[in-house]
Amino acid sequence: MHPLRTLILAAGANDAVRRLVATAPVSRDVVRRFVAGESTDDVVAVTSRLVADGLSVSLDYLGEDTTDEVQAEQTVQAYLRLLDRLHADGLARHAEVSVKLSAVGQALDERLALDNASRIAAAAEQCGTTITLDMEDHTTTDSTLRVLAELRRTWPWVGAVVQAYLRRTLDDCVALAGTGSRVRLCKGAYAEPPSVAFSHPHEVDLSYVRCANALLAGRGYPMFATHDPRLVSVIAERALWYGRKPGSYEYQMLYGIRPDEQLRLVNSGEAVRVYVPYGEQWYGYLMRRLAERPANTAFFLRSLVGR
Ligand code: FDA
Repeated sequence: MHPLRTLILAAGANDAVRRLVATAPVSRDVVRRFVAGESTDDVVAVTSRLVADGLSVSLDYLGEDTTDEVQAEQTVQAYLRLLDRLHADGLARHAEVSVKLSAVGQALDERLALDNASRIAAAAEQCGTTITLDMEDHTTTDSTLRVLAELRRTWPWVGAVVQAYLRRTLDDCVALAGTGSRVRLCKGAYAEPPSVAFSHPHEVDLSYVRCANALLAGRGYPMFATHDPRLVSVIAERALWYGRKPGSYEYQMLYGIRPDEQLRLVNSGEAVRVYVPYGEQWYGYLMRRLAERPANTAFFLRSLVGR
């Protein structure tokens, strides 16, 4: 791992750094570049702005790895409140939610996670929108796909995420590419062993293209989550080759990352969805984004010391 990345991830676990980041007024502005805020009001305001620019969004209430049933319930309630607001503010057609099963009880009991995700999916349906299940580390992949299959029996539009760095993912793409499916393809964000994942970035990119081909050749709705300029242009070329019209697939990017590119794509007629995280537990998310790119870290550290 890159030494700077190791350092940032270590800082992410350090309480003193956490307090400094949370309280320094300038750093709060930088946090706002990647995180929509802590409350439902904050994220609805950001959603309105993005939708006005022609973008769609997927909203992520931050919080992972709960082994506490009460905390899992609080996460469900946060999603239900959010869905109500999106409906009331007329935003639900352009704004769905992304849910991490670990945040709704997966580590405690898969059945509990299924029940909780079902409540969120039912609320999404009533509000006229959809949900996508985020994918976490490889030890949870089978469980997440089992829950997905159960949810899809009632709500066939529940979205899946697959990670190109996993060796299994091409097979998963083929299995998931049926009529009506919604599948988000990303590179993958967790530290995984070579027994299950490609470790060289070039191998991951090649896998991404193979998986993209499988999804574009299928009958579902592929969602290409990447900021990688090379992959964005490969997807454009492959979509043409498969006779896919804009709107029969979409690009997805994270809030605050390559916002100009998000607008360029949408203004050229492509469907683009921005993944927008919010909530009080923003710190771990922010550190993972900074660890991905040293240039962001320099910008962030300068802001901490007020320059
Ligand atoms: P990569 O990180 O290789 O970056 C390629 C290029 O993109 C860089 O060279 C740079 O130009 C640009 N770039 C990337 N990061 C940047 C940054 N922070 N600032 C500025 N430019 C940057 N993962 C997962 O395991 N499970 C999941 O459920 C999801 N969900 C998800 C949803 C959406 C909508 C997105 C966009 C991503 C995810 N991810 C995810 C994260 C994903 O797996 C991956 O870690 C990141 O998207 C980074 O990978 P890229 O494809 O952008 O390429």
